[in-house]
Amino acid sequence: MATDTLTVIDNRTGRRYELPITHGTIRAMDLRQIKGAADDFGLMSYDPAFLNTASCQSRITYIDGDRGVLEYRGYPIEQLAEHSTYLETAYLLLHGELPTGRQLEAWVDSITHHTMVHENIKRLLEGFRYDAHPMGMLVGTVGALSTFYPDAKQIHDPRAREIQIHRLLAKLPTLAAFLYRHSVGMPYAYPDNDLSYTGNFLNMLFKTTEVKYKPDPTLERALDVLFILHADHEQNCSANAMRAVGSSHVDPYSASAAATAALYGPLHGGANEAVLRMLDQIGAKDHVPAFVQKVKAGEGRLMGFGHRVYKNYDPRATLIKRLADQVFAVTGRNPKLDIALELERIALQDDYFVTRKLYPNVDFYSGLIYQAMRFPVDLFPVLFAIPRTAGWLAQWQEMLLDPEQKIARPRQVYRGPGRRDYVPLERRG
Ligand code: ACO
Repeated sequence: MATDTLTVIDNRTGRRYELPITHGTIRAMDLRQIKGAADDFGLMSYDPAFLNTASCQSRITYIDGDRGVLEYRGYPIEQLAEHSTYLETAYLLLHGELPTGRQLEAWVDSITHHTMVHENIKRLLEGFRYDAHPMGMLVGTVGALSTFYPDAKQIHDPRAREIQIHRLLAKLPTLAAFLYRHSVGMPYAYPDNDLSYTGNFLNMLFKTTEVKYKPDPTLERALDVLFILHADHEQNCSANAMRAVGSSHVDPYSASAAATAALYGPLHGGANEAVLRMLDQIGAKDHVPAFVQKVKAGEGRLMGFGHRVYKNYDPRATLIKRLADQVFAVTGRNPKLDIALELERIALQDDYFVTRKLYPNVDFYSGLIYQAMRFPVDLFPVLFAIPRTAGWLAQWQEMLLDPEQKIARPRQVYRGPGRRDYVPLERRG
């Protein structure tokens, strides 16, 4: 039988090392024994942006980027999008198995009954200017939740963890809806426990004078499917932030605020907003070729294209494109769809994008749906943060329960000046 080891010969010393290979990886710490001299620190691996470093072992989400495969706990994303609900999927991510009927009922009941937020949150929101970016407000309010629930510090108590998980999943839509109503100057609409997770979210966003808000069932389901598609994506930038910050043993609200901040960036969850702004900037289908030329010349990126892991079509983009037709049948077609389709058509034939394996990602079409559903463009990343909270919490809990994990603390290769003596101000320059 072939031995699962890697033989390394250090040409500086001529010494030979056998490093075990487990699950397709070598342990970076096994490199430390490789020393040029006895007093050497030992070899490290250098991997800026973690291009080829596994930071954990995980049982939550599986991605095969070359084949365009995405699975949550082994279940293909296509099957979950067709048959599951967001809350059931969140349960799956957090517990590892699909719930029984009774477990699902208790789970939905608990999330539904934790949707209220402390009235002080409203006063906190009053402090933000009318044009504050919703993600900035979300980062602030999610972090502020830690001050309302001091028991959240008990991260090693499974029951305390469970309560915070329920609270975070339940309160995210309320925070998002409240900060939206604050931006548009409308009175806050309180949760309606008769409605589904997404139905209630639409209620808190869009209810006006009607006694009872009735969500459109197609749009309610479409949002639920979008939430399923966004629920987790293994070790992405924000999940990595959640794990890294959570590894200091801070409470999950503070860690979620950090993950939300990571998601805010235009290279990550802010991309759905950036795509819409890009389509506005292009303006018309005829302008697409000139825009693509500019991207190729290095003047900006084609937002919603490319992915660190997917080097084939993003399976979520395929599902979202199909969902768009169902939504547009209710809302009317978003006129920017023609520009997006033309961009995709031209880019997928162009050598620049083909050779770099740049395909539409989850954000390319989601914004068009959100806009057709009347969500303002700057709220799009918030619509990503709400469902991704389930993934962050699953990653956070897995990290806490993993005996191999410690505080996340990478090494560096120091390239700065060597030791030198302090020069008093009058002797400088
Ligand atoms: N438009 C034009 N060129 C691109 C794009 C793009 N969207 N994405 C990558 N490239 C080019 C790079 O310039 C680089 O070219 P080079 O080899 O000539 O220098 C090459 O493709 C590889 O790109 P990297 O930046 O090394 O790829 P990386 O894996 O680091 O980045 C990322 C992935 C951040 C998603 C990138 O593709 C990007 O910026 N896309 C646009 C933003 C976006 O849509 N983000 C959402 C991602 S999905 C998510 O987070 C939910």
